[in-house]
Amino acid sequence: MKRKILVAGLGLIGGSLAKAMQQEDENYLIGYDLNEETLQIALNEKIIDESYTDLEEAAKGAEIIILAAPISETIKLMKQIDQIVFDHDVIISDVSSVKGSILKVANELTNKRITFIGGHPMAGSHKAGIYAAREHLFENAIYVLTPTNSCSNEKVDELKKALQPTKSNFIILQPEEHDEMTSVISHFPHLIASSLVHQARKWEQVHHYLPELAAGGFRDITRIASSNPKMWQDIFAHNGNKMSRLLQDWINEMVTLKEFLDKNSKEEMISYLDQAKKYRDGLGEKKTRGALPSFYDIYVDIKDQPGAIASVVQLLATENISIRNIRILEIRDNIHGALRLSVLNQADQQKAFALLQNNHFDVTIEP
Ligand SMILES: NC(=O)c1ccc[n+]([C@@H]2O[C@H](COP(=O)([O-])OP(=O)(O)OC[C@H]3O[C@@H](n4cnc5c(N)ncnc54)[C@H](O)[C@@H]3O)[C@@H](O)[C@H]2O)c1
Repeated sequence: MKRKILVAGLGLIGGSLAKAMQQEDENYLIGYDLNEETLQIALNEKIIDESYTDLEEAAKGAEIIILAAPISETIKLMKQIDQIVFDHDVIISDVSSVKGSILKVANELTNKRITFIGGHPMAGSHKAGIYAAREHLFENAIYVLTPTNSCSNEKVDELKKALQPTKSNFIILQPEEHDEMTSVISHFPHLIASSLVHQARKWEQVHHYLPELAAGGFRDITRIASSNPKMWQDIFAHNGNKMSRLLQDWINEMVTLKEFLDKNSKEEMISYLDQAKKYRDGLGEKKTRGALPSFYDIYVDIKDQPGAIASVVQLLATENISIRNIRILEIRDNIHGALRLSVLNQADQQKAFALLQNNHFDVTIEP
């Protein structure tokens, strides 16, 4: 008997999860979405096996339900599903970027058939909708699970088994610690990225040429400001207290920095920048840290010309070095850029380093 999984909300995240889970023969995918065109695309592309526009009909046959709508909609769906009379047990999970408000509602559900396990697959994109869905989106990504108080380990294992085709790394967290960490490393940086873009927009009134200079660093640091505004407003609203506290910390920090500048405090400023550099460089190392995956990075300078990236990748392929992640850090017309390649172990890192160096590439292990 196949495992029947309902995905409610087949956008970027729900569509990507469904695509991955569809790779496993044991899984049978049911789709539900308010957008009928999305459902049709999902059926045409065989991302799902059947579709429904009525939630109760869609949910009744499912053993696992994954809610992948915006957070406020997910909360409404949880309350609606709580009213359904099931003739079997059902595991419900979600994908929301905030876990506190979701788990608060989950712990208040009264339907005895339901076990709720919060979820947050920690990969994404600035794109939205089913066309942006990718089967490999969550490969090697952290997938946070936040079970409710009454949830058993067996139920968590059942959910993990269904999600196994995503090839993500599962970790269990308390909702509070999840929200605190994601607000520091994801939600708050988003707010700051948007504010930097606003600052540039205002200064463009003074210097019309400014956008032409906004390359490299500015683009890197503000990339996340291009994401879906409605989704981020929803995230900020559900993590409002923590965001407000972080914003106050940030304002205090900026006041200190302003003092360094106004007093021209050379030593303090060097020390401030140095501490930030050391911590930032350490983040890239990612040696084994608990359940987090460890990657080993190599930085290769490449020219802005056709085939430049392919030549690096082909060289590593000849030695059977598997690349887990690849990113172009900065490339502008006719200027060198850097390619960051992540491999899985130190031996491959050293092998790749030597191979590229012997083939006259400018290569480093530190950024
Ligand atoms: N985008 C990211 O990078 C990212 C990463 C991790 C988690 N998340 C979380 O994933 C969730 C979905 O985000 P997304 O990026 O996939 O958005 P999306 O806009 O790509 O997709 C949302 C989908 O939900 C559908 N939908 C909306 N209301 C619905 C309802 N009431 N019932 C059924 N379907 C409904 C929409 O039609 C759409 O197909 C959000 O809760 C977000 O916090 C997003």
